[in-house]
Amino acid sequence: MVTPSQAVVVVTGGASGIGRALAERAAVEGAKTVVVADRDGAGAARVAASLGSVGTHLALDVTDEAAVKRSIEEITATVGEIDIWCSNAGVPTGRGLGTDADWDAGFRVHVLAHVYVARHLLPRMAARGHGHLLITASAAGLLTEMDTAPYSVTKHGAVALAEWLAIEYGDRGVSVSCLCPQGVRTPMTADFDETSATLAAGALIEPSDVADAVMAAWREGRFLILPHAEVAEYERRRAADRDRWLAGMRRLRARLHRPDS
Ligand SMILES: NC(=O)c1ccc[n+]([C@@H]2O[C@H](COP(=O)([O-])OP(=O)(O)OC[C@H]3O[C@@H](n4cnc5c(N)ncnc54)[C@H](O)[C@@H]3O)[C@@H](O)[C@H]2O)c1
Repeated sequence: MVTPSQAVVVVTGGASGIGRALAERAAVEGAKTVVVADRDGAGAARVAASLGSVGTHLALDVTDEAAVKRSIEEITATVGEIDIWCSNAGVPTGRGLGTDADWDAGFRVHVLAHVYVARHLLPRMAARGHGHLLITASAAGLLTEMDTAPYSVTKHGAVALAEWLAIEYGDRGVSVSCLCPQGVRTPMTADFDETSATLAAGALIEPSDVADAVMAAWREGRFLILPHAEVAEYERRRAADRDRWLAGMRRLRARLHRPDS
């Protein structure tokens, strides 16, 4: 069981949306300290201030490996050993097949940033025999987000990395969970319109609903966190008959009148 109670919890992308909800929930659950980390340092400071005495903040670009390493060392020295790291920062990555800049941003934020945390934090956790890493991927990393190839592919990478780490560290006291929501009402989805496959898949849920799902999974020690229960069924259908699933996705694509990439 993973519990934020009395824990030192770090949340990246904590200035907004899902990260903010995770930081708020960790504080409510009795965390010792919640470190709100974001490249938007002012936003992180605002969220940290709203958490009361347990909140503290950090301006951190998760794609900067040296800064991630330094942050881990500084938090450990000043606040204490990190018990839970929520590797949650994410970026939109363009439409369609995307530009090279979209692919670069996607790989840096959705894959390499998690690698950096794993490289510099998980061995410390393993040495203590205690710790938890949450990787925020997406349902796009289990299924396919037809709106944007770079997002879907890099989120598949996030899921694969989370699985790899769960195997590598699971028997050393370090657990990993992988958060895979469909649409959530945050700034990231604010400009989605009627051509959005995410909106076609179902109504947006609130960031606090995602935090509920995370706490439930942590209590039960589950790896995969699906705030939208239907994603489990979609994944089963995809695995059972890939061609049928692809045909269904093409029908949805036609209904959404998507432009050719
Ligand atoms: N909103 C959704 O529908 C949805 C669905 C599935 C998965 N997700 C994932 O959930 C996570 C949170 O997204 P959100 O919807 O809350 O978006 P958001 O835009 O509200 O928040 C993302 C936060 O990440 C921060 N960030 C981006 N790049 C960063 C970097 N290099 N270093 C540090 N911070 C950085 C941003 O400043 C922002 O505060 C992301 O990984 C996203 O891909 C979102």
